[in-house]
Amino acid sequence: MSKDAILKIEGKDYNMPIVTGSEGEKGIDIAKLRADTGHITLDPGFGNTGSSESKITFIDGDKGILRYRGYDIEDLAANSRFVEVAYLLIWGELPSQSQLTKFSDMLTDNALIHENLKNHFEGFPWNAHPMAMLSAMINALSCYHPELVDPDNRKEELKVAARLMSKIRTIAAFSYKMSLGEPFTYPDPHRRYVANLLHMMFSVPHQKYEQQPEIAKALDKILMLHADHEQNCSTSTVRIVASAGSNLFSSLSAGVCALWGNLHGGANMGVISMLQKIHEGGLDIKKCIEMAKDRESDFRLMGFGHRVYKNFDPRATILRAHADKVLGILDINDPLLNIARRLEEAALKDSFFIDRKLYPNVDFYSGLIMRAVGIPTDMFTVLFAIGRLPGWIAHWREVNEDPNGRISRPRQIYTGEPQRKYVPIDKR
Ligand code: SDX
Repeated sequence: MSKDAILKIEGKDYNMPIVTGSEGEKGIDIAKLRADTGHITLDPGFGNTGSSESKITFIDGDKGILRYRGYDIEDLAANSRFVEVAYLLIWGELPSQSQLTKFSDMLTDNALIHENLKNHFEGFPWNAHPMAMLSAMINALSCYHPELVDPDNRKEELKVAARLMSKIRTIAAFSYKMSLGEPFTYPDPHRRYVANLLHMMFSVPHQKYEQQPEIAKALDKILMLHADHEQNCSTSTVRIVASAGSNLFSSLSAGVCALWGNLHGGANMGVISMLQKIHEGGLDIKKCIEMAKDRESDFRLMGFGHRVYKNFDPRATILRAHADKVLGILDINDPLLNIARRLEEAALKDSFFIDRKLYPNVDFYSGLIMRAVGIPTDMFTVLFAIGRLPGWIAHWREVNEDPNGRISRPRQIYTGEPQRKYVPIDKR
């Protein structure tokens, strides 16, 4: 049986190869479609279009499967930690103890940012959104490391990855301190990755900062669960910018901007504001579900639905259990968690959500955990970006390693005005 797909246009058959992935996914290779047929495909939102082959992450949206480099997310969440998963995503294999120690040491050694970079924070208004500062400061960082900007300088990639992963954390903490008008807290070389982030965010000169280990563990899991997710909007942005030959810093800065969108990484902030509105307004859960179903209302059930998952998002399942555990350990009785549970229960029984296979996604519970551990809402998406950074770095590398790589440049179908002549202004 032919391995090709056959497309019939105006009575003529065109054969197109079928590509099969290592997990059995099928794709039709249309690389020659326009040259052979004069036609292009049209797929707004790319819901049916593969942009690339990739070896980094695999999702089966119908079965609710998520694997980083072949390892199930449940397996990694139970046994690994963020820095080790970051190494796995970027270099493709779980590190040996010596590789992990070297990488961790590089993260510790590269936590400081140039003192002059601190002055950039002065240029932002006190209430600047930390995602605006993060994208700007990542590009500013590249000016202090010109030697790492060259996309072809592959021998320094361990240093580049460690520097960026470490310094994005410092930049995030400093932007939070700036918003509070508090002095910057420098990184502590004796603290591990997440504990150092919390230290830089919450330590103050006049009080001893006692950190509960459960908080660092909860955040480490959140970062790990956010570390990569195939060709999502922000990762696709990083890949498109990388395809133009742009350096890693500018590609990551573009990824931060895409992630900020409220339909994407900004949804975790949207979930909390939705739950707060329901709580403070004493809104009826049933009414909220009806509003979410009403096309005329702009109310969406934030943290629900997903382009790929038509089953539970496995990250939401892990975080759902984690939310209970973290709030229990911290002895927090957050009314918003209760509202989230009731919303989820009502939605999962409603035919509108069932028919459209709308389930809770990663953002539905992540915000509740971050809120419980004291992360301010407008830092939620920054934490998402810190988590997603190793995935973005892995995809940037994959684009740069592709010997057949081309600049990404989609086509379009023009639906504007036909050709027309200029009309002088006195004749208009
Ligand atoms: C992330 O891509 C990734 O991998 C992203 C991510 C990652 O790790 O990178 O997983 C992270 O971005 C998670 C998603 C976070 N966003 C939200 O929680 C925002 C709320 N969700 C929606 O806006 C929506 O579900 C999207 C954006 C997530 C997906 O949008 P799609 O695939 O374009 O779906 P759609 O808008 O075409 O919706 C299909 C139908 C529509 O109804 P009908 O036209 O069939 O009548 O489902 C409805 C939508 O109105 N719908 C919702 C809904 N989500 C979809 N209705 C109410 N509430 C919702 N949340």
